[in-house]
Amino acid sequence: MRIKYIAGNWKMHKTVPEAVSLAQALVKDLASCGHKIMIAPPFTALEAVAKTVASSNILLGAQNMSNAEQGAHTGEVSVLMLKQIGVKVVILGHSERRAIYGEKDEFINSKVKLALAQGLEVILCVGETLQEREAGKANDIVSGQTGKGLAGIPEKDLGRVTIAYEPVWAIGTGKNATPQDADAIHAVIRAELKKLYSAAAAEAMIIQYGGSVKPENAKDLLTMPNIDGALVGGAALKPETFIPIVCFDK
Ligand code: PGA
Repeated sequence: MRIKYIAGNWKMHKTVPEAVSLAQALVKDLASCGHKIMIAPPFTALEAVAKTVASSNILLGAQNMSNAEQGAHTGEVSVLMLKQIGVKVVILGHSERRAIYGEKDEFINSKVKLALAQGLEVILCVGETLQEREAGKANDIVSGQTGKGLAGIPEKDLGRVTIAYEPVWAIGTGKNATPQDADAIHAVIRAELKKLYSAAAAEAMIIQYGGSVKPENAKDLLTMPNIDGALVGGAALKPETFIPIVCFDK
């Protein structure tokens, strides 16, 4: 049985006091919810939120990092800086990084390698655009992004990797993939992992769904056989919407 893993991606929201207040509410109300839980505040709030979630059941995540360890990279944030303040997980290859900032699979892969080498966990995001879906290319796109994102990563490191399937057309739009459609793509990703690694590795991999997850659809999505968690954006910004998603089975 794979565990359920629910992560909140706060994107470019929350000042430090706002972030701490949200994290405090989550620490209090998620203590008895079970499941693996992660929140990814913006960089500026990471250190303050690290203190808030210390000794709770909530892991601290970053939304991105540089592909260089340190050096002359104006505006970037290093994996060493993240580790030092208590970050345990990093989200890489989010569709907003791919679409707005032009991040390509090879570049994302270099970050995945660095994060794993430095002992962090990774959530690797994959997903097709509406145009790609309508052209019948969804399976090829997600398989390709999975393989390229994991290139050179040995099977022994996969325990620290989560794949997040996020159809781009479902992110922030209110239109989630149906549980059946999402599950079918998760199965495609699992088949690709079997091809790249082994049946055991594919079976063990945690694959989250992301894209307009909300309290109303969380249970239907999270009880599908191949959906092992959720990467939540908009609904992660308020306790009253994030808590019922994490506690979907309570
Ligand atoms: P959303 O975002 O839940 O607001 O659709 C999900 C994500 O981008 O991770």
